[in-house]
Amino acid sequence: MNYKTLLIDIKENVALVTLNRPDKLNALNTQTVNDLDRVFDALKDNDDVYVIILTGSGEKAFVAGADISELNKLDMIAAKEFSERGQAVFNKIENFDKPVIAAVNGFALGGGCELALACHIRLTSETAKFGQPEVNLGIIPGYGGTQRLARLINTGRAMEYILTADMIDANDAYRIGLVNKIYPPNELIEGAMKMAKKIAGKGQQAIRLAIKAIKAVDEVSLKEGQNLEATLFALCCGTDDFKEGTSAFLEKRKPVFKNN
Ligand code: COA
Repeated sequence: MNYKTLLIDIKENVALVTLNRPDKLNALNTQTVNDLDRVFDALKDNDDVYVIILTGSGEKAFVAGADISELNKLDMIAAKEFSERGQAVFNKIENFDKPVIAAVNGFALGGGCELALACHIRLTSETAKFGQPEVNLGIIPGYGGTQRLARLINTGRAMEYILTADMIDANDAYRIGLVNKIYPPNELIEGAMKMAKKIAGKGQQAIRLAIKAIKAVDEVSLKEGQNLEATLFALCCGTDDFKEGTSAFLEKRKPVFKNN
């Protein structure tokens, strides 16, 4: 399948998806949002893909936000649709059953920060900068940023970053829990691939059910979350991978998971 704004490279059960509008710092226009929507549908159906890495083309940006030339034309009705469309695509990423890793190679601003927030794990280059600078444009984040940033790093810090529009460098992003690891720029993709392959080497049923259980934290009470955990734990125990994983440990050999 062809995508106007994305590059796709699939190898060793890992799909590297590169947002590819470097002359516009990979800003998210309608085409890019549509391409992201389509590519995640395709990756869901692709049984060879276990883990997805999202990154940006060029050295400067992961994604420098929603495309301001499109934003500039929105009236109130179109703006609601615009926000809901972006939220729906980012929700698809957040709720994707396969792990999605953001490899943030440069500016992750506005919709770019929101895209990284929708991913399950965030890795960053030392040179990246995060931020929600929407108030500079007279708007607020509209692709889930007010909600996900507050949930990930806490409400007080989200208030500070959204209200001041200040950028967050990689060290601060790590310190406040916005990113998991920092890499030198030329080691970021290698580091992301290494983590993706490590995850791809596990039983994928367990990986997917673990994501489902962890994501429930944002939605349900502790009691409901524990009920869900027990159900998903039981589902794992009905898989061949569970038999293989536990038998391999007892037989002192490496497990060979078949993901069923
Ligand atoms: N939407 C549309 N185009 C964008 C863009 C965006 N969010 N961010 C950058 N671009 C375009 C610029 O207009 C420029 O295009 P041009 O060469 O045709 O003029 C090109 O990308 C390069 O950007 P430029 O601003 O020249 O790079 P810079 O290194 O001087 O600054 C940034 C980099 C990221 C600080 C700056 O581009 C910026 O502030 N972008 C907007 C960030 C933002 O507000 N995002 C939230 C949107 S809701």
